[in-house]
Amino acid sequence: MKRTLLEHISPVIAPSMLKCDFGALNHEMEKLSAAGSDWLHWDVMDGHFVPNLSYGAMVIAGVRERTNAYFDAHLMISEPATYLDDYLKAGCDAITFHIEAVPEPTELLRRIRSQHVAAGLALNPGTPVERILPYVADCDLVLVMSVEPGFGGQTFMPQVLDKVRTLRKVLPPTVRISIDGGISRSTIREAAQAGAEIFVAGSAIFDETEYAAALTELKALAEIGGQSA
Ligand code: DX5
Ligand code: ZN
Repeated sequence: MKRTLLEHISPVIAPSMLKCDFGALNHEMEKLSAAGSDWLHWDVMDGHFVPNLSYGAMVIAGVRERTNAYFDAHLMISEPATYLDDYLKAGCDAITFHIEAVPEPTELLRRIRSQHVAAGLALNPGTPVERILPYVADCDLVLVMSVEPGFGGQTFMPQVLDKVRTLRKVLPPTVRISIDGGISRSTIREAAQAGAEIFVAGSAIFDETEYAAALTELKALAEIGGQSA
């Protein structure tokens, strides 16, 4: 039975489907499932909002029936409202878009929630946390970018952790805080200590041969960090 957003107990390690082997996508999903992950973070990029083009709803829809994993779509696209129905139809369980693309996000957040899908708002490293605070009442998830969006394998930006700390103070526990970019063995503890509870990881998983060991180690380090949050 698929778990809801709130039923995923912190810390959640969210494999970022950007650095996986797209020549064997189904096999990659099977490997992640066998390694104990039931969450997939889909990094959708339009080559306009970010300087990279990844994939669209068609790919997500194409694998939906092959796994029971929680589909967490991260839309790094300029017009999420235009394409929202495609991601709803594709079977996403959470849909996150950027405040930088939709300065007035309330209507879109409510549209996502009206379809019983978790609504997320993402903010880039340079965007002050105050930009999203007026809208968190309509959010199920806030995604704090710890790299400039567009590519995996970048260096973690610790200066965003102050935003995580602020969010942890002001958000109710029902709104999940996700952090995305440069999460690794050496950065996940401080991210958990700041109050993050969902950790998107690309390189830290897909650059390893053993996904289970990587997931287990990241989760253990996040638990240690979370204990001193
Ligand atoms: C970047 C994406 C991230 C990224 C994570 O725009 O949103 O999810 O792929 O990759 P790593 O963990 O390698 O930074
Ligand atoms: Zn992402």
